[in-house]
Amino acid sequence: MRRAAVLCLVLFLSLVASGPTRPAAAQQAGGAKIVGGPYAVNVGARTATVMWVVETGEASLGTQPGKVDKTSPVLHAESIVFPNLKAGTTYYYQAFPGDAGKGSFKTPPEGPAKFQFVVYGDTRTRHDVHRAVIAGMLKYAQPDFVMHTGDLVADGADSSQWPIFFDVERELLRKTAFFSSLGNHERNARNYFDFTDAQPHYSFNWGNAHFSVMDSNIEDVAPTRAEQEVFWQEQLRWLESDLRDAQNADFRFVIAHHPPETAVKRRQGENPRMTELEPMFEKYHLSAGFFGHDHNYQHYLKNGVHYFTTGGGGAPLYDVDAPPKDITVKVASTENFVVVNVDGKSARVEARKPDGELLDSTALGR
Ligand SMILES: [Fe+2]
Repeated sequence: MRRAAVLCLVLFLSLVASGPTRPAAAQQAGGAKIVGGPYAVNVGARTATVMWVVETGEASLGTQPGKVDKTSPVLHAESIVFPNLKAGTTYYYQAFPGDAGKGSFKTPPEGPAKFQFVVYGDTRTRHDVHRAVIAGMLKYAQPDFVMHTGDLVADGADSSQWPIFFDVERELLRKTAFFSSLGNHERNARNYFDFTDAQPHYSFNWGNAHFSVMDSNIEDVAPTRAEQEVFWQEQLRWLESDLRDAQNADFRFVIAHHPPETAVKRRQGENPRMTELEPMFEKYHLSAGFFGHDHNYQHYLKNGVHYFTTGGGGAPLYDVDAPPKDITVKVASTENFVVVNVDGKSARVEARKPDGELLDSTALGR
């Protein structure tokens, strides 16, 4: 019965995807236009959500009657959940009419298999650089999914910035699955949750690998330090049990915005909560952690755990002027993205500049 339902879904999706081109999405009834997507989120072996962002109008603001200082688009996200999917399968969807509404994603395989994912972050502010980083990914990688380490935009609460993010990311996002963690620049804004359908912290499996995604931006989760501490302690309890339950996976990865280690001198010691997690990462045999926040590339190996900072997605670059002694593998003040190829019990992490130049290459595993 389940197999029949899956076949029907595949047939429906392929029929829709190959059907005649309809009027462009920008000409939707009521003047609404699509300014983001389509893209796939929460992709699992059995379900996936396809989303797109619609601008239904705009609103203006000024300091005098009739004076317009700022105009912002009114946005909302549309989404459709596809259940009863099959693991390790590529699906082609039509989210809205026209070629612009077409996309695809792959569901995770069950058990050991080959797959690839890309990690990147801090795509805010310099849109031309962000565009170059995405072009590099499209040229030098074919990810089954991408993982954004946060700071997607400069101000998550400013609706005018999200259409720019989605415009730059369009060709990447329509052919892969998107996962993300919260950066400080998201400001914990509702826009982030509306457009990603993500929880503040969550985990998922892809083949033989387990991914734990944290919210390290606790200063925005609540107004008081006491409430922030409650959030952090709850997250730590979740993280520890999540890592403990994933000991049978061949690889365990943690993703968060703020890095536990940094080569940026003026930022050293800024993230003590993350640094204090290192013993937990060691105890539960973390394969690697991926972080952002510092706009450069950094790679450390400490007590068997690899720590990567890949915050080179477009935000202004930071120096790497004080690499920590004894643990530094590679640091570089450059734009970058990280490609991870997993093949059964082996995995390789390759960091690249947008032009494809290899910055760093490391085998993971014990
Ligand atoms: Fe940041």
